[in-house]
Amino acid sequence: HPKKLLKAISEDGDHLKNLAEQHILSADQFSREELLQLFRLSAKFEGNPARFRTPLKGKILISAFYEPSTRTRLSFESAWHRLGGDIMSITDRSTTGIAKGESLEDVGEMFNNYGDCVVLRDSNEESVHLMMDSLRIPIINAGNGVDEHPTQALADLYTILKWRPGFISNPEETAKIKMGIVGIPNKMRTVRSLLKMLAKFPEFFEEVIIFHDGSSDDIFDPDQLEQLKESGLNVVQETDLKARLPELDIIYINAIAWVGNTFESFGDKFVINKDSPLKKDAIIMHPLARGEELDTNLDGTAHNWYFSQARGAVFLRMALLTCMCERTERVMDIVE
Ligand code: CP
Repeated sequence: HPKKLLKAISEDGDHLKNLAEQHILSADQFSREELLQLFRLSAKFEGNPARFRTPLKGKILISAFYEPSTRTRLSFESAWHRLGGDIMSITDRSTTGIAKGESLEDVGEMFNNYGDCVVLRDSNEESVHLMMDSLRIPIINAGNGVDEHPTQALADLYTILKWRPGFISNPEETAKIKMGIVGIPNKMRTVRSLLKMLAKFPEFFEEVIIFHDGSSDDIFDPDQLEQLKESGLNVVQETDLKARLPELDIIYINAIAWVGNTFESFGDKFVINKDSPLKKDAIIMHPLARGEELDTNLDGTAHNWYFSQARGAVFLRMALLTCMCERTERVMDIVE
């Protein structure tokens, strides 16, 4: 419940000031203190849906999605609307000058005239960096190819802390997590960003197991593996999900996904349903959209935290946008 997390984190608004006018490019860029304060503000929004303020009144978001999206685009737009701002939305690059060969640097230069913040998704990893070269307003990376999806990782860690606020309020008494992640960090931006985020709090995890089908050696970028080792996060690789399922506290499934421009499947080995040997109180997370790996017969069970994960992303994005637009003082007094 968001109120338990809200109570667990003591307020220190100073850290949120660091996010003002920042570009959001990578899960790496946040400090632990910034993350906790951001989650505190997200929980405030989530705990008081009837008391939303409109701190972004008069501000304009440019929502540029050059690759399909259900959750990220609509939750950013919902968040911005709920905060009182206006939106210009591009859902197809063929309707812009890019289709005529206009450079992303020039598009970025124009965006400076039209809005106060850009959210960009593009299948090309470099696009967000090219646009940034000419932007004087902040940009949020909403997924750049197979590289990163930092706000998904923020929503993921927010979900984990709502499930176990004891890590903050009572760390000595709170059992460490065994987490299984189905997916390949080197090919899936959600997994890559999530691992960077988990590495900020390595003490929460007994083990983080990356499950893959063993058909490729190209699982980790060597630099990321080194970075994870240095953080102290205990990351291991395995291929037999079913053998380890009964001991996992969190299953973050991501097995069938758009990877770049192709649709990849790991097959039956990584399908879970309500007859799978799950620990009684295990939670299942998934960035969605789902494929056949996540059976709909789990939706009505207590294992389903993936819908809550998607819902929480709206409040997380509200908090992030409020901080980036330097409007936190307008929401700090929301009743807790
Ligand atoms: N989780 C996520 O990125 O979903 P969308 O592709 O629908 O935005």
